[in-house]
Amino acid sequence: MTERFRQLVMEWDGLAVVTRYDHPTGTWVFIALHDPTLGMAVGGCRMKVYPTPEDGLLDALRLARGMTHKWAAIDFDYGGGKAVLAMPRRLEGEERAGLLRRFGRLLNALNGAYGTGVDLGATPDDMAVVKEVSPWVLTGDEWHGGHVDPGPYTALGVHSCMRVALERLEGSDAMRGRTVVIQGVGGVGTPLARVLAEDGARLQITDIDHARGRALAQELGAGWLAENEVVETPCDILAPCAIGGTINRTTIPLLRCRAIAGSANNQLGEDADADRLHERGILYAPDYIVNAGGAMAFGLMQRGVSDDGEIRSRVVGIGDSLAAILAEAAQRDESPLHAAFRKVERVLAAKMAESV
Ligand code: PHE
Repeated sequence: MTERFRQLVMEWDGLAVVTRYDHPTGTWVFIALHDPTLGMAVGGCRMKVYPTPEDGLLDALRLARGMTHKWAAIDFDYGGGKAVLAMPRRLEGEERAGLLRRFGRLLNALNGAYGTGVDLGATPDDMAVVKEVSPWVLTGDEWHGGHVDPGPYTALGVHSCMRVALERLEGSDAMRGRTVVIQGVGGVGTPLARVLAEDGARLQITDIDHARGRALAQELGAGWLAENEVVETPCDILAPCAIGGTINRTTIPLLRCRAIAGSANNQLGEDADADRLHERGILYAPDYIVNAGGAMAFGLMQRGVSDDGEIRSRVVGIGDSLAAILAEAAQRDESPLHAAFRKVERVLAAKMAESV
């Protein structure tokens, strides 16, 4: 065990981490179970190439904690958990499928302690492979006759939250003419960009995959930004929609946005960055509220809600939860992250009181 591995696990406040080395592909598999108070741990499966396995572990630990907050914030009876498949290189075809099936058998061994789903780097097709061998994956297909992509639902929730943030800043939620920077146009950023373009927002986008990003920019008449231009581009709303940690001690002084509302998990380098944003007068819509739409949609499907209109209206309703949090934070002159966290604590405490 490396010193860093030891340190990460020791300093984490979660329940346990299941660790497995997948010999055929050289992938490190981490399943982080953060807090089971509300129910079985559920959270997506991230598939990514990290500089070191420890970076993958750190991601799993932080993402699982985020899921605890997310489920509590939207009042769903799931606990926080997340899986990371830290691959040595991009895996395709049979190699990738083999890894996913072995991951599925590991889920079977955990027998319901953790349920997985799509996350960054994984696709609905990947989850369909896991589903071949394991019931512990939320794909939504029982209700929709095919596996469902959570991305558009997440985008719908982000869009609703952007309007709420604008309303608070401007007294109007009209997106027309507003400048929005979208950092990452993958599963969520793409449908989000489409809705915003329809609204008449002025879009500036970027993506690590230049071909994909530029094609979308051209299609929507959006501006294209180089990755290093994102932080300093003046805009009404900055939407981090890919990797986490982009809002941090270094980037905050350079930001020229009025609000941050995006789908990425763990957008802040650390919680204290929320206070730094508050001091700079930038409205931060907490990531785990803004991006809860995909998780919520899958949770609803799992509960048997099959009416898409109902699912969509519940997801849009995330905006109302955000509005309440922003109002509370404004009243106390604090970052909305504090108000969101108090809500999470209230929900967890109520559940614990119920079970004694
Ligand atoms: N990956 C989603 C998120 O981070 C969560 C999710 C859970 C997606 C279950 C699908 C199924 O919010």
